[in-house]
Amino acid sequence: MAEAVPDVALVTDYLAEQENKGLLRFITCGSVDDGKSTLIGRLLYDSKLIFEDQLATLSRDSRKHGTVGGDEIDFALLVDGLEAEREQGITIDVAYRFFTTEARKFIVADTPGHEQYTRNMATGASNAELAIILVDARQGVLPQTRRHSFIVSLVGIKHVILAVNKIDLVDHSQEVFERIVADYRSFAASFGFETLQAIPISARYGDNVMSRSEKTAWYSGPTLKEQLETVEVADDLEQKPFRMVVQWVNRPNLDFRGFSGTLASGSVKPGDDLVVAKSGRTSKVKSIVTYDGKLAEAFARDAVTIQLEDEIDISRGDVLAKATERPEVADQFQARLIWMQDDHDLLPGRPYLLKCGAKTVTATVTELKHKIDINNFDHLAAKTVQLNEVAVINLGLSEPIAFDAYEANHETGSFILIDRLSNHTVAAGMIDFALRRASNVHLQALDVHKASRAAQKDQKPAVLWFTGLSGAGKSTIANLVEKKLQAGGQHTYLLDGDNVRHGLNRDLGFTEADRVENIRRVAETAKLFVDAGLIVLVSFISPFRAERRLARELVEEDEFIEIYVSTPLELAEKRDPKGLYKKAREGKIKNFTGIDSPYEPPENAEIVVSTAEKSPDELADQIVAHLSDRGYLSAPKD
Ligand code: ADX
Repeated sequence: MAEAVPDVALVTDYLAEQENKGLLRFITCGSVDDGKSTLIGRLLYDSKLIFEDQLATLSRDSRKHGTVGGDEIDFALLVDGLEAEREQGITIDVAYRFFTTEARKFIVADTPGHEQYTRNMATGASNAELAIILVDARQGVLPQTRRHSFIVSLVGIKHVILAVNKIDLVDHSQEVFERIVADYRSFAASFGFETLQAIPISARYGDNVMSRSEKTAWYSGPTLKEQLETVEVADDLEQKPFRMVVQWVNRPNLDFRGFSGTLASGSVKPGDDLVVAKSGRTSKVKSIVTYDGKLAEAFARDAVTIQLEDEIDISRGDVLAKATERPEVADQFQARLIWMQDDHDLLPGRPYLLKCGAKTVTATVTELKHKIDINNFDHLAAKTVQLNEVAVINLGLSEPIAFDAYEANHETGSFILIDRLSNHTVAAGMIDFALRRASNVHLQALDVHKASRAAQKDQKPAVLWFTGLSGAGKSTIANLVEKKLQAGGQHTYLLDGDNVRHGLNRDLGFTEADRVENIRRVAETAKLFVDAGLIVLVSFISPFRAERRLARELVEEDEFIEIYVSTPLELAEKRDPKGLYKKAREGKIKNFTGIDSPYEPPENAEIVVSTAEKSPDELADQIVAHLSDRGYLSAPKD
């Protein structure tokens, strides 16, 4: 018996060692000139290289947990579902390479260093645990070194290797090395890196990469390989609270209903009490199923299908958590974001789609707090955010979502913004915290409703949204329509651009950002007037589709009637009722719609009136007839 003990201990040690031969994900930051490609080439060449296409096989084989029998589940569907999910993500220039040494396995995200650096880096870095920041020993710390380091800290990487490359080109000078390291440490002090190891290397000749160099005898720290192999990055994902985003509801036949997804963090086992974060509904885990059969317990990064004891309402995008460790649920929060779109700036007030996990909602930036200058980390006041810029913002969502702060959980704390018209990913963001005001302001229940207000006026409230160029004739026609409606006994209100800009919107000009805010406010005002039971006429250029759509979505479907006052630019310019086109042509007015600011014509307006062909009076009659035909107006009194 006495002898058996060391044997068991040995086996346990060995197993522990294999377990610990964990995976380190890292990113390399630097430009081609810094020797990044040479370094990656050397790491791959000098280690036991495994080709990229074996990555998928590896992740499948590494699923190490129990294998008991199999229910008849369509697992092919599971794979397809997850693949499709991945494809919807951001596709960006990031190459993932895989290699291994005796001590560890590595995945390195290689991001091109050209001008798209920020968004590529942010993507590559989002699930990396360590960053190698390359500096050319001859150049020292450059602005790009600061930028890279800032983004590394922004996405929450805690471990950094400062690789001072081309040390051979400065005669392996200790002095040069130490000066660069001191320089770097002084500005990186506030980044909260847990480890920062500086190493003098020559990627070209291999000094201190895989083996120690005699030429830098003054350096006693680890080689790059040693640091990569031994740095403790403590992937504590399994220790974090359990989170799983439901990618899809797996229902192959009537007898089985499971919820498929990958554990973002924590662990889960049959018998655990779970909660659907947003709805608060609870149930117990009945079984956990995978390709290889049922599991006694599942851990972070495992792809599983969870079966529950009860039939509760769960759909794609819901977050499952333990009943005792719930994520936050809110519809407003502060976040940091990186803008990734080159042809459009971020505009506060414009609706975007926000995707967090597998949940997509509509979101607007309710406040742009400041931008961060990524060269010197200053806070800058701003009205818009441009490509590769980083900003701190408040977001308002169309409905609450379940999330964690990014710091607590990268997966449930990050999101992307998508342009609603082009479907492009325009930003990547990290959630800081929910805004308390969101939880302390509740809608007040009122006893008098829209329906009773409308009934009292004997009409169906609606928004008549007139859009078109300046001088198209919007206000003239809207004015006539209102007169006709009033004569018919209707209760109306006309919101006219020029007038509203003298009061409520007097602080706004004609930049894209200001026009977005102009329309957002008038759309909210129109909504209130509809609630008051009125027929509201809105006459604004409202040049952008995104904001007209926002206005439409604020009210019920049949309450929004978009009227495109179609007038060719030449005709509007010829009329030029306020002499503004002339001034714009002379360069005295900037951002004039149709001249140097765009107008996006409606694609599906309910009514199109062409002022080139008919008189304003005829067109007004046409609009009133439309309303009358569709039952908006009270029957004429005798
Ligand atoms: S919107 O684009 O934000 O919807 P809005 O309808 O409120 O514009 O205001 C347009 C009116 O402002 C025009 O009818 C015109 O009288 C005046 N105006 C002054 N400067 C401009 C400009 N740069 N572009 C368009 N209209 C302008």
